[in-house]
Amino acid sequence: TMDRPNTGSGVLLALNAEAVGSLKEGVNFKKNPEDGKCYIIYKNKDGLKACKNQCKHQGGLFIKDIEDLDGRTVKCTKHNWKLNVSTMKYVNPPDCFLQDELEIMDDGGLQLVELNPIDPWLADPREPLELQKGEVKVTYLTHACMELQLGQRRFMFDPWLKGPAFARGWWLFHEPPADSLDRLCAADLIYISHMHSDHLSYPTLKDLSKRRPDVPIYVGDTLRPVFWLQSQVKLTNINVVPFGVWQDIDEHLRFMILMDGVHPEMDTCIIVEYKGHMILNTVDCTRPNGGRLPENVDLMLSDFAGGASGFPMTFSGGKYSDSWKEEFIKNERKKLLNYKSQLVKSLQPRIYCPFAGYFVEAHPSDRYIKDTNIKNSAEDLNALINKIAPEIKTWTPKPGSVLDLGLALRDPTNSEAITSPPGSAKIYKDSWDFDLYVDELNSAISCEIFKHQSWIQFYYTWAGFQNYNLVIRMIETDDNFEPLTDGYDYFVDFVDLSFPTKRPDREHSYIEIKNRIGVMRYVVLHGHLWDDLYIGFQNRISRDPDIYHHKYTHFISYNKTNNDCCLVLYMTIKTLNPFLSEKTDI
Ligand code: FES
Repeated sequence: TMDRPNTGSGVLLALNAEAVGSLKEGVNFKKNPEDGKCYIIYKNKDGLKACKNQCKHQGGLFIKDIEDLDGRTVKCTKHNWKLNVSTMKYVNPPDCFLQDELEIMDDGGLQLVELNPIDPWLADPREPLELQKGEVKVTYLTHACMELQLGQRRFMFDPWLKGPAFARGWWLFHEPPADSLDRLCAADLIYISHMHSDHLSYPTLKDLSKRRPDVPIYVGDTLRPVFWLQSQVKLTNINVVPFGVWQDIDEHLRFMILMDGVHPEMDTCIIVEYKGHMILNTVDCTRPNGGRLPENVDLMLSDFAGGASGFPMTFSGGKYSDSWKEEFIKNERKKLLNYKSQLVKSLQPRIYCPFAGYFVEAHPSDRYIKDTNIKNSAEDLNALINKIAPEIKTWTPKPGSVLDLGLALRDPTNSEAITSPPGSAKIYKDSWDFDLYVDELNSAISCEIFKHQSWIQFYYTWAGFQNYNLVIRMIETDDNFEPLTDGYDYFVDFVDLSFPTKRPDREHSYIEIKNRIGVMRYVVLHGHLWDDLYIGFQNRISRDPDIYHHKYTHFISYNKTNNDCCLVLYMTIKTLNPFLSEKTDI
C-alpha cells in the first residue's frame, strides 16, 4: 500500500510563517476557517506531523487526552478511541489502524495536502477475461456459507452446516443441501471471516477435520485470533494472512482479506478475484475496511438481517418495556436496510446478494426471542435496491441456488443465469438436534469444580479484567431465567476484583445478569467468550434503575502479549458499554 501524492487535490489547510512559529511542542488543534474542517499538527524536535481531526472509527472528533502525560495522544469524543499522533497509530484499540498522515509542504508557512493511498486491490490490476458458461458458479448453502467454483478450484466461505451457534441460541434457518458436507470436504480453500460461531462452527469443523484435516483455511491477521480455541478441532493447515495483500492462488485466482472499521480486532471481509472479475463479500462487517471498498465488482455479498445481539430483547427494567423494544427494533432494522441499500447503490456491483442472516432462535425455550427479535428479510432489501438502483441485478438465494457468473454478466436477464433448487428440495429446517447440543452444554453443570465456591475467584482472576468501576451480580437460573435454589448467586466488583456479598456504597455501574446455568458453566469451563451468553440470548440483563449518572473510567487496555483471558470479559463489557452509558445503539 504505497502512498502516492494525489496530484489533483488541493491544499486542505494553510498556515503562514507566524502561525507556524506559534505551534507549540506536542499536539496542536487547527481549524480551516473557510470550511470548518479540523486538523491535528504534532510538533517535536524532529519536526511536524499532521492528520485530519477525524476518527477512523466513525468519524468522531479528537480532543486532548487528559490521561496522557506525554502529550502525544488524543482521544475521540465519540467512543474514546485513542490515537498517538507522534506515530499516527491508534493505541486503543491497539495494532489496528494507522491514521492517514497528511503531507506537509513548506512554503515559508505551511500547507497540508492530502495523500491518497491507492487502494490495495487497484495496485496490480488485471484485465477481466470473458467467463465461459459454467466457469464461475456461486452456490448458496446456508447462512454465510457460499461455495465459489472458480475454474478448477472451489472456494468456500464460512461453513456453518450443522449444530447451533452462540451456545444454543442460534439454529440454522435454511436446510443445507444434502451434499453440503461433501462439498465442504472437497474445497480447495476455505475462508473463515471471524471467530463468531455462526462463521467458525465447531460442529461443522469437527466433521471436516475428520475427513480433510489438511484443507487450507484462510483467516485474517486480526488482533483476536480467529482460531483461538484451536485445541477443539484438529485442522493442520490454517493460514493467517495480512490485511490488504493479494494472496495468489494461481495465475487467475487471488484473494485479499480486509478488516472491519468498527470491530477491527475481530471482523474481516474478503475480495476474491478470478480472471479479473471481483467478488466482494463484506460478511458481517459493520463498516467494511473503514468504508473504502472496490466499486463495480461483479458480485457483492453482504449481511442484511440484524438481530445478532442480545440488545435489547434480553434487557429488562427501566425503559425496556416490550413496546419500547418493539419500536427500537423496528427503527434499527429500517436504518440497517437503508444503510445497506445505500452502500450497494454507491458501490455499484453488477449483481448483489444478501446473505449471512439466516438463523432462527428455534429452541422452544427461546420462543420470546424468536417472536420479538424481528429481522429484515432479504426480499425487502432487494426490493429496495431494485427501486433505488434498478441497474443492479439482485439475487435472493435459496439453499442450493446457483448463480452462473459468466452468464449473468453477459446478459443479466438470462433466466439460465440463476438455477433454483429442485422443487422437491427442502428449503427451511423444521427440526433440529436440540437435545444433542443442549445436553453437551448441560454436562458442565455437574462438573467437579463447581462444587467449590472458590471457582468464582479463580475464574475472574484468570479472566484478569479489573480497574473498572463496575459491579455485576451473576445469578444461575433454569431455562426460564428463574433463579435456582442450588445455583450460585454472587457479586463481582471489578474495581479491585473482589467478591462482596452486597453492592458497595460508592457510586458505581451495576448490572444484574441472570444466566442459564448450563451455558454459563460451559462458558466458564471452556473459557469461551460471554458472547455465547449475550449474543445467544442465554441471559437476561437489567441495570439498577436508580443510577443513571455515574463516572466510570476506561482503564482497559490489551495487547497481543496479554493473555487471551482478559479479552473474554473485555469483549463482553465492550458490548454492554452502550447499556452502561445510557446509549441505545450497539
Ligand atoms: S468515532 Fe471515534 S471512537 Fe468511534
